[in-house]
Amino acid sequence: MNSRRPSGSVRYENHGRVVIVTGGGSGIGRAICDAFALSGAAVICADVNDASAADLPDGIDFVHCDVSSEADCRSVAAHAVKCHGGIDVLVNNAAIQPKSSYAPIHQLDSDTWREMLAVNLSGYHRMAKHVLPVMLGQASGVIVNLASGQAHRTAREVGAYGPIKSANVMQARQWGVEYAREGIRVVSVSPGAIDTPLVRATLQEQGGAEALANRHPLGRIGQSSEVAAAVLWLSSNDASFVTATDLEVDGGLGSFGAFADPYSQD
Ligand SMILES: NC(=O)c1ccc[n+]([C@@H]2O[C@H](COP(=O)([O-])OP(=O)(O)OC[C@H]3O[C@@H](n4cnc5c(N)ncnc54)[C@H](O)[C@@H]3O)[C@@H](O)[C@H]2O)c1
Repeated sequence: MNSRRPSGSVRYENHGRVVIVTGGGSGIGRAICDAFALSGAAVICADVNDASAADLPDGIDFVHCDVSSEADCRSVAAHAVKCHGGIDVLVNNAAIQPKSSYAPIHQLDSDTWREMLAVNLSGYHRMAKHVLPVMLGQASGVIVNLASGQAHRTAREVGAYGPIKSANVMQARQWGVEYAREGIRVVSVSPGAIDTPLVRATLQEQGGAEALANRHPLGRIGQSSEVAAAVLWLSSNDASFVTATDLEVDGGLGSFGAFADPYSQD
């Protein structure tokens, strides 16, 4: 038996490819920007937070974009075409989960619901709407929607976040089917708990870091770079037969059922 294994980590070649990442200024989006830039892509980080442009490495182009604005989404797509010549990959990642959204729906205020719909659902739709004509013209492209484990299984007080994340999965299935014959693949990625500033802040406030780690069969929460690695694979030709589906990047969390949690120390 041949016991030799390739050494080093898998690296994708993305020279000459143009990638838009919404919400690329922080957390998972930032790791996706970095991974694509390292692999040679021209990366456009489209984020509403202008301050996040300050520490972006060279080679990542920052464009101010509020995905709840039709005009902003249109101009990010136009910028990519004008300055980089096309759009090969769109990563729909920008989403919000404000503190006010942690409530049962009869107590959820309507402004929070409307804001989450505008960013987390309509934002993905708007970006796809303006990017797809470019991809159709090229007869190629990949769209990756960041969904969540909470798209598939629920918890208490995520009555806005969960259903909207679930719709992000369905958007990918719908668009994937719709554009399959046009050379365009569309997928969603559903992370488990990932070590981002948002999750760290919530854990600092509420505690429970060890319990959260234990809920993942791998015994830890994930890193943004691990989600980025999945996005790079899905965007590559190695995933050429993968479309209109979802990939859970969750350390096994989603396979826990009603018998959970056998690893808990509590
Ligand atoms: N962190 C996790 O554990 C986790 C788990 C499952 C799914 N996700 C999903 O992964 C994605 C990224 O999550 P994260 O934890 O990295 O978030 P984050 O809060 O760290 O980063 C979100 C980024 O989006 C930007 N943004 C917010 N509203 C925007 C708008 N209207 N227009 C443009 N940009 C906007 C923010 O400025 C920020 O840079 C989200 O879709 C989230 O739902 C995260």
